[in-house]
Amino acid sequence: MTQPSSTATEAADNQPSPAARQLLRTSATPLADAVLKVARRDIASFHALPLSHGRSISNSPTREAYEALFGTAQLAADVSYSGTMLDSFFRPRGPLRDAQRLAAETFGADMTLFLSAGTSTANRVALAALTRPGSRVLADRSCHQSVHFALGSLAVDVDYTRMRRCCDDCPRTFADLPCLLDAFAKAAASGRPYDTVVLSAVSYDGVRYDLPTLFRAMAEIHPTVSVLVDEAWGAIHRFHPTLRPLTALHAVRELKLTDPHLPMTVAVTHSAHKSMSALRQGSYLHLVGDRETQERTAQALFQHHTTSPSFPVLASLDLARAQAETEGEALLDRSLFLARTLSTEIETDPRLSAYRLLGPKNHLTDPSLLVADDPTRVLVDIAGLGVTTADFRRLLFDDYGLYVARESGSAVLFHVHIGVDEATMLRLLDALRTIQRTYRTASAALTQGTADHFIIAYPPGIPITVPGERMCDRTLDELNALRTSGSEIYTLYQPQTAQLSTAGLE
Ligand SMILES: Cc1ncc(COP(=O)(O)O)c(C=O)c1O
Repeated sequence: MTQPSSTATEAADNQPSPAARQLLRTSATPLADAVLKVARRDIASFHALPLSHGRSISNSPTREAYEALFGTAQLAADVSYSGTMLDSFFRPRGPLRDAQRLAAETFGADMTLFLSAGTSTANRVALAALTRPGSRVLADRSCHQSVHFALGSLAVDVDYTRMRRCCDDCPRTFADLPCLLDAFAKAAASGRPYDTVVLSAVSYDGVRYDLPTLFRAMAEIHPTVSVLVDEAWGAIHRFHPTLRPLTALHAVRELKLTDPHLPMTVAVTHSAHKSMSALRQGSYLHLVGDRETQERTAQALFQHHTTSPSFPVLASLDLARAQAETEGEALLDRSLFLARTLSTEIETDPRLSAYRLLGPKNHLTDPSLLVADDPTRVLVDIAGLGVTTADFRRLLFDDYGLYVARESGSAVLFHVHIGVDEATMLRLLDALRTIQRTYRTASAALTQGTADHFIIAYPPGIPITVPGERMCDRTLDELNALRTSGSEIYTLYQPQTAQLSTAGLE
């Protein structure tokens, strides 16, 4: 029987590029290799995944959309083989085991598990493994919802720590760590120590915990404690000398160098997809702990992970580790440089004077708080622009093709991850300048009392003020009402020549 031609084309499309071949040569990627090997073959499955290799859509009008969205390579790599055909997800003995061992070595763990269901699941697995019914848990209030839900479903006794806010001016929140240590010490002194501590050590907002100090203190007070460190946002930090020292796996290894028999167990969860070149939902669960805890963690994975793991996601975890090992430091050098560039431009360029940098110069400098700034994050207050943060995000997305996920009060956060290059940073700076030019004059007029420009809300597109007109209470109310009802506010500071990108104003 001859092969369907579409499958032959897919096989040709799946040949690695010269750059991919170079990467495979310089750093072993056993799982990615194995997935590629089966993806290249014309294997027809009588198990599941009719979509694999695009078979179920070979004569379908939907094929074009599938291929446009996923490409033939992804359709070929999405496979459901298990056992010795590829590997068993829950009891790996082949390429998945080898890939996980390589990751454990690279990150400095005793064991690493790959998950294709995100760190939400990794946190649940880790907590199920670390705790037992009746365990006393001290949890960081700022943890992700997955931690709170997991703790709620386990028969454990949870106490939460108090939260701190960075300062009145800066919306970042984090656990009151001196207070956490105090509660930990008091519980131990009273004879009812905490069995497990949960920390959210790398926040999205750019707060990192001083884990070496925290671990040292906990080890002195109650050395058999187990700690779950959610480092969802910090997987890549391992790969740069300025970021590595505060990471959990580095901190516990350093501690175990001075005391090799320290019984402390540390589980660390990493959303690789947030900071490394891994596909969405790719997550690592690392463990520094004895054989029994390793076995409990494997059991917990069996109980909580989907039985249909995504092999493309798992293979991407293998590739992401290999890339970070070989190129991580250089990529992070670029991120750190670009984050500094963004901060410096905002501080010094008058065309960006409506933006205000929050941290790191003025905040989180007190070492007794046991926190530090994440230099890949730039938090910017945009109150001076006169647009809401929601409108600002929408503008960046619609008009400049730039996406910012987080807003907090009048601040937005730029995560300068390893996918942000020089051209992207220039595009962002350009967008920020243009937005300031367009919007700032509107808010200046509001504070000055006299409009020296047109201010137009669209819809309806009729000027609220014309140059020279006084800004009275009624005008302000009108402007606010239109803004609240969803109108966009435009300022034309050179009405004869202004070019608005939005049609329909005339
Ligand atoms: C601190 C923290 N932990 C865990 C998660 C969940 O990670 P995932 O999206 O990989 O499930 C998130 C998600 O944003 C997070 O911010």
